[in-house]
Amino acid sequence: MSSQIDHLLSETRRFAPPAQFAADAVGTAELYERAAADREGFWADQARDLLHWHTPFTQVLDWTNPPFAEWFADGELNVAYNCLDRHVEAGNGERVALLWEGEPGEERRITYAELTDEVKRVANVLEGLGIGHGDRVAIYLPMIPEAVAAMLAVARIGAIHSVVFGGFSADSLRARIDDAGAKLVITADGGYRKGKVSPLKPAVDMALADRNGSGEQETVEHVLVVRRGGNDVEWNPERDLWWHEAVPAASADHEARPFPAENPLFILYTSGTTGKPKGILHTSGGYLAQAAFTNRVVHDVHPESDVYWCTADIGWITGHTYVTYGPLANGATQVLYEGTPDTPHPGRWWEVIEKYGVSIFYTAPTAIRSFMKIGREVPQRFDLSSLRLLGSVGEPINPEAWVWYRNIIGRESTPIVDTWWQTETGAIMISALPGITETKPGSAQVPIPGIAIDVVDDSGEHVGNGNGGLLVITEPWPSMLRGIWGDPERYKETYWDKFADKGYYFAGDGARLDEDGDVWLLGRVDDVMNVSGHRLSTAEIESALVAHESTAEAAVVGAADETTGQAVVAFVIIKQSFLKAHEPEGLAGTLRTWVGEQIGAIARPRDIYIVGELPKTRSGKIMRRLLRDVAEGREVGDTTTLADTAVMSVISKQVK
Ligand code: PRX
Repeated sequence: MSSQIDHLLSETRRFAPPAQFAADAVGTAELYERAAADREGFWADQARDLLHWHTPFTQVLDWTNPPFAEWFADGELNVAYNCLDRHVEAGNGERVALLWEGEPGEERRITYAELTDEVKRVANVLEGLGIGHGDRVAIYLPMIPEAVAAMLAVARIGAIHSVVFGGFSADSLRARIDDAGAKLVITADGGYRKGKVSPLKPAVDMALADRNGSGEQETVEHVLVVRRGGNDVEWNPERDLWWHEAVPAASADHEARPFPAENPLFILYTSGTTGKPKGILHTSGGYLAQAAFTNRVVHDVHPESDVYWCTADIGWITGHTYVTYGPLANGATQVLYEGTPDTPHPGRWWEVIEKYGVSIFYTAPTAIRSFMKIGREVPQRFDLSSLRLLGSVGEPINPEAWVWYRNIIGRESTPIVDTWWQTETGAIMISALPGITETKPGSAQVPIPGIAIDVVDDSGEHVGNGNGGLLVITEPWPSMLRGIWGDPERYKETYWDKFADKGYYFAGDGARLDEDGDVWLLGRVDDVMNVSGHRLSTAEIESALVAHESTAEAAVVGAADETTGQAVVAFVIIKQSFLKAHEPEGLAGTLRTWVGEQIGAIARPRDIYIVGELPKTRSGKIMRRLLRDVAEGREVGDTTTLADTAVMSVISKQVK
């Protein structure tokens, strides 16, 4: 990490916002002043200005029972009404909400009036299936308009969605369905990925079946299936129903009832430092207020003129906040693209930008780095002149990638916002405001107005400018997680115990303050990896590896990778008994596939090394730091605390 810090320290380039951009920008310097003078009053203003409240709130923040916050608790609203009906009622029903592009090239333009109509029908279907207030609905869909409609329909009836990324395996899906106790699964037959149909319904069938002694899944009563891929699927007539039969047949009259601001909106599972993913719980009013506010001021959305595109899948928090909730609450027009960036050709994204005249583009550093690798000739074949703002999210963006993004995609003129946040924070927390902040390549820079953060040492003391430490959030914020589904203790332990005396939320990230007090993110300080902007837990992959019959022990580390940021590297000890009975050839490949089946393709290790031993301290703790040295091809660091100091030289040889 120290070479990375030295490298960042030498970054002195600065970019002021273009004058015209600054003149037209939504975000103004007064926002900072107002928030600094009265933080809670500031958020109350945002919540009132940006949302419709069926019952206006009189309380802003209730922090009498920390770390359990309540925002706007006596107010009532309907999240879907805020994202749909009110735009239609305001005369904007003909505005396009979704510009959908299928991977094979189909196109659908869906207006706010049409999306409202569809969501009302889906809401009626859900209620007809017995889904009501507080029930959980799992959503396992590709990037199609029905995914957005499904989320909003669940929200509309006061139920709770749990979206599971379509790349997760049947086992991962099952664990999430079980944990949330979902009554319904909304899926598709399949969706297009990399030029072919990737099946989804078969994974749902597997997830619900009795496999590996798991017993049949017991809470799911129905599976609602969108026809997208056209692939053959098995059908259980008592349980399954087609979207294209049920939804058009349902009534398009559906009243959006108000729910309390703290009504749970969704659970989204994310990886932590233990093997079991955590169900992060978000509620309605505070979440939607911060989602809408940040989308307005950080992405500078002018709903009447912009075409916005966030490339995240709805299976991740970025897709929740900056595809479904933020932009639709603001009445924006956005692109939704189903497929991968390089199908059928490596310029697919740039083609989409040219075709729809995208003006605001929000993506992840890993994508930018892979485009850099392919070369500027590809984007330069397209007209990208509609772009006026670029955003980055998900992992630290290195200055080279930042500058390439600005020069090649942004014609050396568009501002870039590097936005730091997490599944847990619900919405953007640290970012430049594009019309105000002079940007620095590689730095997320400043907390947005109304957010209080700090960089502290291990005892919670502010480190001071020019120093590194741990990133904390020092005051509650509207879109903060309200807990971990079913596990309040784990919520406290994971995020609040480390700085309990100060009452700080510990984000798990290392950061540095530069001489101006701007924040530079340095990556995770725990056993969480960030691969292509996706959060993965070392413990979760280790437990998948040891669940294989061949494996005695496994250690997983995140090793630096030029394109994906980090890559999963596994060190595995094979059981003697297995080696006696089987050929070891191909075992690494078998284990890679196995991890893909257990968790999902994103978790498949880049490298698997079969080793004889793992480096452990005298108390038996695996020293991953040393394995990371090996995986990154560095000189192995201090080994004196190892029980057996010779182990590392043996491992280094085996890896070579
Ligand atoms: O390590 C930080 C990194 O991603 C983590 C959160 O991951 P997740 O909950 O999956 O949410 C990703 C999308 C919001 C953080 O703890 N991270 C996210 N954005 C940035 C970042 N690291 C550096 N710079 C960022 N802009």
